[in-house]
Amino acid sequence: MAAYGPYPILTAAEVARTVANGQTVSFSGFTPAGAAKAVPEALADYAREQHAAGNPFQIRVLTGASSGHSIDEDLAAAEAISWRCPYQTGKALRRQINRQQVEYVDMHLSHVPQMVAWGFLGDIDLAVVEATEITPDGRVYLSTSIGASPTYLKYAKRVVIELNRHQSPRLREMADILVMPPPPHRNPIPIHDPLSRVGWPYAQVDPGKVVGVVENDASDQVGGFSEPDAVSQAIGGHVADFLGREMACGRIPSDFLPIQAGVGNIANGVMTAMGSSPHIPPFFMYSEVFQDSLVDLMIGERLLGASATSLTVTAGKLKEIVDNIDYFGPRIVLRPQEISNHPGVIRRLGVIAINTALEIDIYGNVNSSHVYGMDIMNGIGGSGEFTRNSYLSIFMAPSVAKGGDVSTIVPMCPHIDNNEHSVGVVVTEQGLADLRGLGPRHRARAIIDRCAHPAYRDILHGYLRDSRLGHISHNLEHCFDLHRNLMAHGSMLPVGVRRVA
Ligand code: COA
Repeated sequence: MAAYGPYPILTAAEVARTVANGQTVSFSGFTPAGAAKAVPEALADYAREQHAAGNPFQIRVLTGASSGHSIDEDLAAAEAISWRCPYQTGKALRRQINRQQVEYVDMHLSHVPQMVAWGFLGDIDLAVVEATEITPDGRVYLSTSIGASPTYLKYAKRVVIELNRHQSPRLREMADILVMPPPPHRNPIPIHDPLSRVGWPYAQVDPGKVVGVVENDASDQVGGFSEPDAVSQAIGGHVADFLGREMACGRIPSDFLPIQAGVGNIANGVMTAMGSSPHIPPFFMYSEVFQDSLVDLMIGERLLGASATSLTVTAGKLKEIVDNIDYFGPRIVLRPQEISNHPGVIRRLGVIAINTALEIDIYGNVNSSHVYGMDIMNGIGGSGEFTRNSYLSIFMAPSVAKGGDVSTIVPMCPHIDNNEHSVGVVVTEQGLADLRGLGPRHRARAIIDRCAHPAYRDILHGYLRDSRLGHISHNLEHCFDLHRNLMAHGSMLPVGVRRVA
């Protein structure tokens, strides 16, 4: 049998056949970056084969966060997933979750390693981890993401390494890996600035658990971003101007504070606006995902350095990073998600958190995960750990969605994942509401007047006026009228009110 050092070389199909119905498989990957690719594809084929033969075959799937096409799309299309944790962005999988065909545990991402270590998520029967090298003594050099892979390598009963020849071995120069011991035996994490290095460039595995190596040369499947549209540009402009003003009046130091930016087109647009703003000095990031727009900011020396857990960049940008690794290597640190999203470090560094909401209520409670409070979009991801622990937490959204039929500013969110106690600033393309120091009534007025779309402002003020007085005024009979309107006739606006142009 062919071998890679002491480890047998296996085909992905051979690995798939060792997995039994109902087992838990954890895959590397945080977004498509560094995701296992060959084995999940083979597992999807194996599931189809088993289903055709009339045999049940579904697995429980863990990853770092969302993952590559071969995990959430291919496995879901083969109806091979029974349970999924902790985050996803796949269309097919989302549909199955919302039909309750797949059980989904939507979780703060930094909690995953601890939950695995203590066994709350059950045994991990197999971990499949992409790497650029594994040594005979069990050092595993990961590729474009760290995520929860170090934990999966440590706790899984069996391990398969997907040795990816496409990924550059020099990616390890960015890795800084530390696996936390269980409480109460934890020391402070000595991260004093975003680029502090506190661990090793490799993860470790007991070589005796490694059943084999699968060779592979597939690239990450990271989708591109659309050019920032007028709405994203306006939101980005408001955020950049606000942060510039905060710095000018001394509430942000002149060497600035590290930025965390969430996922998606708006976040990407905001980073572009921050980079070109004359009011913002060159800055650092302490974030979760390193996205495309950051490559240019780093080359232009607007972004001085970044800590993340994944390099979620398109193929061209990844090549740029790898071809210029002597420049990027010392400026980017990739950490396990338990550290990149660690509440204590986020608080210590005074991170400015910038995340996107689906909807925000008039008091600043945020729903970023469940459409109409029912259907999962993606999940809470890392937004909760950054929002709750940041120096300043900003939530943004376009003021309307679905061509104006949906107001993203509503009287009450039917699901809340980030609450008013943690949200400091709300911004839409209409403007920005600084909620710090404001009680509920003033928060509501600021959000309605500055952030709601003009077509919805009177309705929201009317709701406030007719609410029962309390510390937080609400009208429990009418708090979901906008959502009811949407369900009844396809627009949150009452019947007869002219639609948004
Ligand atoms: N009600 C119903 N649908 C809504 C909506 C609302 N209030 N707001 C947005 N939508 C729809 C949009 O119309 C769009 O639909 P489409 O795909 O059919 O066009 C879809 O939701 C996505 O909206 P978009 O504005 O393109 O989203 P985005 O790419 O900026 O992502 C989130 C926004 C909230 C989904 C995304 O940021 C997220 O998943 N956040 C939670 C996790 C997180 O913050 N992670 C980062 C932390 S480090």
